[in-house]
Amino acid sequence: MEIVRSPEDLSSQMAEPFRPYEHLVKIKVLGKTVEVPEKNSVLRCFQFLSPETIPYGRFCWNQDCQYCRIRAKLPDDDESREMLSCKFIAMAGMEITELSPELKACLRPVLRK
Ligand code: FES
Repeated sequence: MEIVRSPEDLSSQMAEPFRPYEHLVKIKVLGKTVEVPEKNSVLRCFQFLSPETIPYGRFCWNQDCQYCRIRAKLPDDDESREMLSCKFIAMAGMEITELSPELKACLRPVLRK
């Protein structure tokens, strides 16, 4: 079943989508260094990078749909691991090496710059 969001839902989500943060942290997305708000999920950080596309992607934001899967290596990890970007809080120095097709499509404009 597809969830249809009303314009009001979207505008309230756009108004205050981020958890409070004081600093931006550097992470890498497919080799590109970007700055994103600390204390926020990786998917929220993707929204920070691409506010025009992520809110309109097919994301459930609550660990059901799996459309937000990524593979990432954390600073203390030897190997990368799969994770859900709607669940995992972005961490300075993390390197995201793979994106789901839905994320790739949404982030294409940002990663092309
Ligand atoms: S957005 Fe649906 S599982 Fe993460």
